[in-house]
Amino acid sequence: MTVRRWLLLLGLAGVLHGVRCQQPVPDSTGFISIDCGLPEQASGYVDAATKLPYVPDGAFTDAGSNHNISAEYVAPSYSKRYLNVRSFPGARRSCYTIPAPAPAGSKYLIRATFIYGNYDGLNRLPVFDLHLGVNFWTTVNITRPGTAQIAEVIAFVPGEYVQVCLVDTGSGTPFISGLDLRPMTNKLYAQANATQALVLVERTNFGVSDLSLVRYPEDPYDRVWIPWSDPEAWTEISTPEKVQGSADLRFHVPSAVMQTAIAPRNGSRTRTIELPWSAVPNHAYPEPGLIGIVFFAELEVVAGDALRQFEMTINTVLWSKAPYTPKYLISDIFFNSEPHQVSSGQYNFSLNATTNSTLPPIINAAEVFTVVSTANLATDSKDVEAMSAIKAKYQVKKNWAGDPCAPKTFVWDGLSCSYAISMPPRITRLNMSFSGLSGGIPSYFANLKEIKYLDLSYNNLTGSIPNSFSELPFLVVLDLTGNQLNGSIPSGLIKRIQDGSLSLRFGKNADLCINGSSCQHTKEKSKSMLAVYIVVPILAVVVTGLLVVLLLSRKRKTRGTGSVKPQNEAGGAQSRSRNSDDGLLQLDNRRFTYRELEAITNNFKTVLGRGGFGCVYDGFLADGTQVAVKLRSQSSGQGEREFLTEAQTLTKIHHKNLVSMVGYCKDGEYMALVYEHMSEGNLEDKLRGKDHNARSLTWRQRICIAVESARGLEYLHTSCSPAFVHRDVKTSNILLNANLEAKVADFGLLKAFSRDGDSQVSTARLVGTKGYIAPEYAVAMQLSVKSDVYSFGVVLLELITGQQPILQCPQPTNIIQWVRQRLAKGNIEEVVDARMLGNYDVNSVWKVADIALKCTAQDSTQRPTMTDVVAQLQECLQLDEQHFI
Ligand SMILES: *[C@@H]1O[C@H](CO)[C@@H](O)[C@H](O)[C@H]1NC(C)=O
Ligand SMILES: *[C@@H]1O[C@H](CO)[C@@H](O)[C@H](O)[C@H]1NC(C)=O
Ligand SMILES: *[C@@H]1O[C@H](CO)[C@@H](O)[C@H](O)[C@H]1NC(C)=O
Ligand SMILES: *[C@@H]1O[C@H](CO)[C@@H](O)[C@H](O)[C@H]1NC(C)=O
Ligand SMILES: *[C@@H]1O[C@H](CO)[C@@H](O)[C@H](O)[C@H]1NC(C)=O
Ligand SMILES: *[C@@H]1O[C@H](CO)[C@@H](O)[C@H](O)[C@H]1NC(C)=O
Ligand SMILES: *[C@@H]1O[C@H](CO)[C@@H](O)[C@H](O)[C@H]1NC(C)=O
Ligand SMILES: *[C@@H]1O[C@H](CO)[C@@H](O)[C@H](O)[C@H]1NC(C)=O
Ligand SMILES: *[C@@H]1O[C@H](CO)[C@@H](O)[C@H](O)[C@H]1NC(C)=O
Repeated sequence: MTVRRWLLLLGLAGVLHGVRCQQPVPDSTGFISIDCGLPEQASGYVDAATKLPYVPDGAFTDAGSNHNISAEYVAPSYSKRYLNVRSFPGARRSCYTIPAPAPAGSKYLIRATFIYGNYDGLNRLPVFDLHLGVNFWTTVNITRPGTAQIAEVIAFVPGEYVQVCLVDTGSGTPFISGLDLRPMTNKLYAQANATQALVLVERTNFGVSDLSLVRYPEDPYDRVWIPWSDPEAWTEISTPEKVQGSADLRFHVPSAVMQTAIAPRNGSRTRTIELPWSAVPNHAYPEPGLIGIVFFAELEVVAGDALRQFEMTINTVLWSKAPYTPKYLISDIFFNSEPHQVSSGQYNFSLNATTNSTLPPIINAAEVFTVVSTANLATDSKDVEAMSAIKAKYQVKKNWAGDPCAPKTFVWDGLSCSYAISMPPRITRLNMSFSGLSGGIPSYFANLKEIKYLDLSYNNLTGSIPNSFSELPFLVVLDLTGNQLNGSIPSGLIKRIQDGSLSLRFGKNADLCINGSSCQHTKEKSKSMLAVYIVVPILAVVVTGLLVVLLLSRKRKTRGTGSVKPQNEAGGAQSRSRNSDDGLLQLDNRRFTYRELEAITNNFKTVLGRGGFGCVYDGFLADGTQVAVKLRSQSSGQGEREFLTEAQTLTKIHHKNLVSMVGYCKDGEYMALVYEHMSEGNLEDKLRGKDHNARSLTWRQRICIAVESARGLEYLHTSCSPAFVHRDVKTSNILLNANLEAKVADFGLLKAFSRDGDSQVSTARLVGTKGYIAPEYAVAMQLSVKSDVYSFGVVLLELITGQQPILQCPQPTNIIQWVRQRLAKGNIEEVVDARMLGNYDVNSVWKVADIALKCTAQDSTQRPTMTDVVAQLQECLQLDEQHFI
């Protein structure tokens, strides 16, 4: 094999050529040939050996810097592209993005070439990875400073761009000398398909005594056939006659390659040819699978009784099905479709003459590949396009190279994505806060169709807010705080805010109008760190003409701040504002009058839900905070005492997974509680209620909801003194906010306890909801925190199955029995909510199911505590994360 190494060097090194000309990319062959590190001013040149035009790489990457290889390594035989390199210090991943010269879904030969040549003066040979788009391609291990090394892959390119990325693995700075793209016919190399690519190990043309290289134009795909000659060891056979192509259209081999061959010299090994093949392992493929393709044609006239017949073995296992005789001047091909795999990575390929054979075996050419998976999907192309436009518009540096979301470990700074099996990742969050952006807000943000959270706060953005944001169906938070935007808030956005599907933060924009006439004129910045939501009531009020709020809004104007502060309109109660974690406005509890409630709810106009004790109404405080108002109906079964229990309890307990109370009303016979608004409603509806045609919750969202609501309950059970049992844990009492964060609600049945965890009390009255009530409580009125654990187990089962706690078909069945029966048969698919479309990690589902069944154990002492449940659910979340790496 050493013979081959120096031939490789000689062979690939063309002669410098001075011709320069401007060539379009791709050239007339459909090829793209890039000289990496060639100064951009240089317009390109024609390669002396292939006559193919090479272009500089500046148009395809915005990273890295150009260097010349050091003079001591410059050899006159080197092709020009080896004299300079582009290197990529300081970046984890750096990419070339090249418009695909063939339609999306075409097969390509992609070749990267490297000569280190001590370009950086460090005399340190780097090792780094290459990725093809979002898939690992190979590890480049530079072993000699002055030798050309090549990485080549035959792969499908699904999209309209070919992306080649160099990945710093901590063993030296990645660099590259040249990059070639050669579109191929899709039929060729059937082993390369949409999910699998072929990485070249070697491509050998045997018996070439003059060591000439066969490549373009003799090979229309510009494969480089490396000559192999060792006349002392092998008899070289050649013919001037053309060799016909193979009948197998999956392979094509140039006649020039087939016109030479080797046979063993007479001597000790006169009847065998042995070729060692080695698949070089790397960190991604420690035991790479190997594909071999060998080419034969008889080049001599075999007359009379003579016979050339041989068999092929790989590692002493017979490979050919029958003894084989090459055909005269016709190409024949042997290959394996599925990769061979041995742990050593070492393969002995041998050709043995059969006993009947009078002539030794021959071989004309061989190709050896390892296979790599290309099953990772790139981010949705529309999202990618939008991000590229955003990156270009704002000249974003950061680590924004390659695919925005994939692989998961290389996701761009400031982005979050959703990953699902066999679906392209989608961008769900973009945070470009404090990024020094200036200029207008272009419409292409609105092409990020699945974005939920967009933060452009604290930049220098100018111009108006595009209405196109209102067309983003999943956008729940848009933060434009701290810019220099002007104009008014577009009507589409106002509509979204009013229907509760969007929170807009726009404070600290001096010239922004919040209604037709009044603009926020201010020089002084608000001292308050308040995150400002749009002040819908003020807009609504202008329309409805409600005097009270008009007054308030005037008061605000005269105050002249850039942000809107909550007004304290309650009788004497103090109201202060502070900024909570999620930026939601939080007020200390305060007391409202009934008239105030009328203003807040616009005369109880919009009903959000109905409970056992009355209705819940949508409302807005004067400062724009959206709230839910739970008004006790006169006919309600819930007594005054329970109502006050809840009000009093809620003033004491504060946890981010418990719905918090903004205030309350006790005005004559009227009683109401005012809560933070949970725009995504309750979990029951999300799982199977009104929202039926809306998107189903993903498995990941479900686990997150489980973890969060479990934390809320854990807090009630363990952190309060006295401890509390909720007594009505169910999916309709788990509410979701705009970010789908879960909070436990409805504390009307809360029961205080001594802190002793497992203690039970007897209660006089059974409360709760059918299907959720623990057996010991239902039967013996024995209540403990474990009763909540039981109910929570039912909630988990609902999250897994999407079913009701009592299934109706064919006859009423408890969900616990229903799931237990099916899981006993090992059948999890049958219980999992079909609306998740199979996008979940099975192990993670099993684990949650296991927790759920433990929670719903008949014997309350067998049930875990909520603290255990939280810990175990968190592990499920991790399992699910691994699933999507
Ligand atoms: C590389 O060499 C060329 C000519 O030999 C010279 O014009 C160019 O400036 C050099 N580039 C660098 C980065 O040193
Ligand atoms: C690179 O090649 C050298 C020499 O063959 C070998 O010792 C080293 O382990 C290789 N490094 C990696 C990371 O493969
Ligand atoms: C690609 O080929 C491999 C190996 O034959 C096979 O397992 C895989 O299913 C193929 N992929 C596609 C998309 O056809
Ligand atoms: C080897 O073969 C050549 C012709 O191919 C022949 O002239 C020579 O005598 C042979 N030598 C031996 C040792 O068989
Ligand atoms: C391949 O052949 C060489 C010598 O011919 C031998 O040392 C080696 O063990 C063989 N490898 C395998 C995997 O058979
Ligand atoms: C082919 O030759 C190799 C090496 O001499 C030997 O190990 C193997 O058994 C032979 N196979 C056949 C089919 O003759
Ligand atoms: C060798 O030739 C004889 C006679 O033609 C035939 O019977 C036998 O099957 C052949 N052996 C092989 C291995 O092809
Ligand atoms: C957005 O980015 C800014 C600046 O990097 C950071 O301070 C802020 O916490 C981020 N916001 C979120 C929600 O991640
Ligand atoms: C915004 O622009 C002004 C002047 O154009 C500059 O002084 C200020 O630093 C910029 N702010 C940010 C956050 O880039």
